[in-house]
Amino acid sequence: MEQKKFYITTPIYYPSDKLHIGHTYCTVATDMMARYKRLTGHEVMFLTGTDEHGQKIENKANEAGVTPQQFVDNIVEGEKGVKDLWKLMNISYDRFIRTTDDYHVAAIQRVFRKMYENGDIYKSTYKGKYCTPCESFWTESQLKDGCCPDCGRPVIDAEEEAYFFRLSKYADRIRDLLENTDFLLPRSRVNEMIHNFIDPGLEDLCVSRTSFKWGVPVDFDEGHVVYVWIDALFNYTTALGFLNDRYDDSDYEKFWPADVHFVGKEIVRFHSIIWPAMLMSMNMPLPKHVFGHGWLLLDGGKMSKSKGNVVDPYLLAERYSADALRYFLLRDFPFGSDGNFSNELLINRINTDLANDIGNLLSRTTAMAEKYFGGKLPAEQAEGPEDAELIAMASALRDKYETQMEKYAFQTALADVFTVIARANKYIDETAPWTLAKSEATYPRLARVLYNLAETIRICSILLSPVMPSTCVKIFDKIGAADEIRTWDSAAVFGALPKEATLVKGENLFPRIDAAKEIAELEAISEAKRAAANPVKEEAKPALPTREITDHEEEITFDDFCKVEMRVAKIVNCESIKESKKLLKITVFDGERERTIMSGIAKWYKPDMLIGKNVGVVMNLAPRAMMGGKYVSEGMIFAADTETGGASIAFFPDDTVGYRIH
Ligand code: MSP
Repeated sequence: MEQKKFYITTPIYYPSDKLHIGHTYCTVATDMMARYKRLTGHEVMFLTGTDEHGQKIENKANEAGVTPQQFVDNIVEGEKGVKDLWKLMNISYDRFIRTTDDYHVAAIQRVFRKMYENGDIYKSTYKGKYCTPCESFWTESQLKDGCCPDCGRPVIDAEEEAYFFRLSKYADRIRDLLENTDFLLPRSRVNEMIHNFIDPGLEDLCVSRTSFKWGVPVDFDEGHVVYVWIDALFNYTTALGFLNDRYDDSDYEKFWPADVHFVGKEIVRFHSIIWPAMLMSMNMPLPKHVFGHGWLLLDGGKMSKSKGNVVDPYLLAERYSADALRYFLLRDFPFGSDGNFSNELLINRINTDLANDIGNLLSRTTAMAEKYFGGKLPAEQAEGPEDAELIAMASALRDKYETQMEKYAFQTALADVFTVIARANKYIDETAPWTLAKSEATYPRLARVLYNLAETIRICSILLSPVMPSTCVKIFDKIGAADEIRTWDSAAVFGALPKEATLVKGENLFPRIDAAKEIAELEAISEAKRAAANPVKEEAKPALPTREITDHEEEITFDDFCKVEMRVAKIVNCESIKESKKLLKITVFDGERERTIMSGIAKWYKPDMLIGKNVGVVMNLAPRAMMGGKYVSEGMIFAADTETGGASIAFFPDDTVGYRIH
């Protein structure tokens, strides 16, 4: 019988900066799926890579004073770069594509030419709104409050001679694909796409640029480069050898169409509308599924390189092990929705599931086997009334897990495994092996109890091996499970472990972490990083200076400006503090949460003049301890200097709370 195939991809990441935990999350999920499919006997192609062209990279390289190629080489191949991170995280990708690879560039030129020749790409003039950070053109109707609907940042007017893709031609077929098939998952994403993009009408898409050079040149019209999203999306096929000879052509025949593309929710639009339309134009089969996963948030907001509030996967994996971090990411957050990352969650998860549940189960079982039987279980074993439930649960686990994994429900699949692990720990309490060890007459029963525990551990470890590959190998070794009983088939058979199994005692695989101490240390590390990134030059002066206009203020780039996040917030409370005559302690609601801002305006405003008012707030200032640490200020309020040295606060209308300010 021909081996079943499975082709899975991550998005290709922008190497504009070091990758963070959000990128790691998607890659780890893809890795778990790929390993699971290998375990179930599939021939897997797991593709990841980097999306290296575009204006943003060109700008970043200019700022860094290097060529774009040097810039991306360093982030992808350099120390602690993308490839290093995937190595550390034990990512088992089969292929890594870089869009600057020659074979890919040549193939993209062929793709562009083909669509031009078949009439789906034509030349015209583009007038529209352009979001530089996202490299996306938008129509007026797509803007959200006048800003980029993806990132909320300001757009600029842009006009240029350009090539267009006839996206409109495919609108009906795309609607049908989304509404009447399970192409796009989870289902909730379908409504978003239909409502936001298909219902308002699909317009033709601008697919070339002349405003920058760092891209794939259109080979029949000098000066034009191919829009990064065409360049990026076709990676999923060029990496299989499509229209190029870097790889065997049969890889394309063998693996295309992909079984699933895992992508973050903000790029679902590209994968579920533009990508299938282009494949239709090229007469190519469509991927079977696109799964739009949620974001990992930090304090309720998006983690992003440009906001500077990113969590470093390197630090966490080096401190707690890649396996612990992988497990946490997939166990704590439902794959299809957003989740709030915190160090506390991570440490709690390690302590409860890994140190307590599985770690203890293994160390108790192996320690007892060694203590009572010198490590080798005797053949004579006796069943008991406590066995049936545990055996039934462990025997049914594989199929339960499979059902969840086939739905990409990693969280539930892992929760199911840990329900059985918890049951096994309870079984120890019920059977009380230390009592059975007191008399030779109950040795056979004792042996059977330990055997059942080892078998449960074996089955659970097979199912955990896609998420914690290194740990599970160690577990198999400790319970004496040979290679042939680490398999998918054997996970459905309770009793595959030889009766006279040899167990080896060892230290707990996941030592318990002192949570309070560890969290404080992690906080101190991020605080130091923040401080290094934004050195505070001098103490902020509480009293505002008189108006002073200099004509040589330091220039900042547009990207610098975009780093400042400003929003309208409502003052829900305001009080004077006894420690200072200058400061007011102001509590604002920013649309998502309440935050405290300490503001040096007490001389000009009394609390009741402010409560209930809407003000502009700089949201992403690093929090600052004030008054010897008694207060923490999380932002600044917009105010103008007045002629008399006072401050005049800008107020915003009633219905604008939570809105971004540009
Ligand atoms: N280069 C494009 C993808 C092209 S695919 C043909 C891109 N790159 S990206 O580096 O900005 O993002 C890559 C992926 O990382 C996206 O799927 C995005 O959703 C994901 N994430 C980035 N930050 C994230 C979180 N905070 N949480 C979860 N995923 C996040 O888009």
